[in-house]
Amino acid sequence: MSESDVDLVPMWLPHLPGVLELGNRVFDVSEMPYTSWSLSSAAVHLDAQPDACWVAEAGGRVAGFVLGSLSYDERADWGYVEWLAVDPEHQGRGLAKTLLEESCAALFAAGATRVITDVEQTNTASAHLMRRCGFNDSVTVTLFVRHAPADSGASRQARVRAHSTDPAKARLHAAARKSERD
Ligand SMILES: CC(C)(COP(=O)(O)OP(=O)(O)OC[C@H]1O[C@@H](n2cnc3c(N)ncnc32)[C@H](O)[C@@H]1OP(=O)(O)O)[C@@H](O)C(=O)NCCC(=O)NCCS
Repeated sequence: MSESDVDLVPMWLPHLPGVLELGNRVFDVSEMPYTSWSLSSAAVHLDAQPDACWVAEAGGRVAGFVLGSLSYDERADWGYVEWLAVDPEHQGRGLAKTLLEESCAALFAAGATRVITDVEQTNTASAHLMRRCGFNDSVTVTLFVRHAPADSGASRQARVRAHSTDPAKARLHAAARKSERD
């Protein structure tokens, strides 16, 4: 399939299953253990800032998406691009760049004085993409982690909580268990 068969369209409700499925496939929550991908992550963005949420469609399927929002923590005038993904089948053809440009344009038009995003240290694809799209490295935050001792109450409670039925939480718990084993 050529990229001329890919359409960039505003994201809307019928896209949600495809967006959720693609995110589940490509986002590695074990790399960013403080964040979680779920249907509500997508829905919140769509609700708050639909013009900053775009989908690339190929053959009726979601080939990529970007979810942006206006405001970041206490900064009401900062745009934030939190989620961006392209199906591996369609990667390396400029789709992420186009999606990102579209979302940034919407955020600037909505009054953002800047747009920020965070990139995990080993995600070279995303870092390259951001630099290509005019983002500069700014603050670097290192997540220092001190684990609770194996016999502590917190550790026992974590094991109990690990039986969550919420799929997003279950994935986070699985990532936490994996990092404990590694
Ligand atoms: C990061 C990601 C969105 C890039 O999607 P993509 O459609 O392949 O990116 P593009 O084709 O638009 O490429 C944009 C730029 O990044 C570069 N790039 C893309 N993948 C790269 C890789 N694996 N290594 C180095 N550079 C890469 C491209 O060469 C291009 O730069 P150029 O114009 O100088 O050639 C995609 O790899 C992905 O979905 N990854 C998993 C999810 C993720 O990490 N999302 C971002 C954090 S939420």
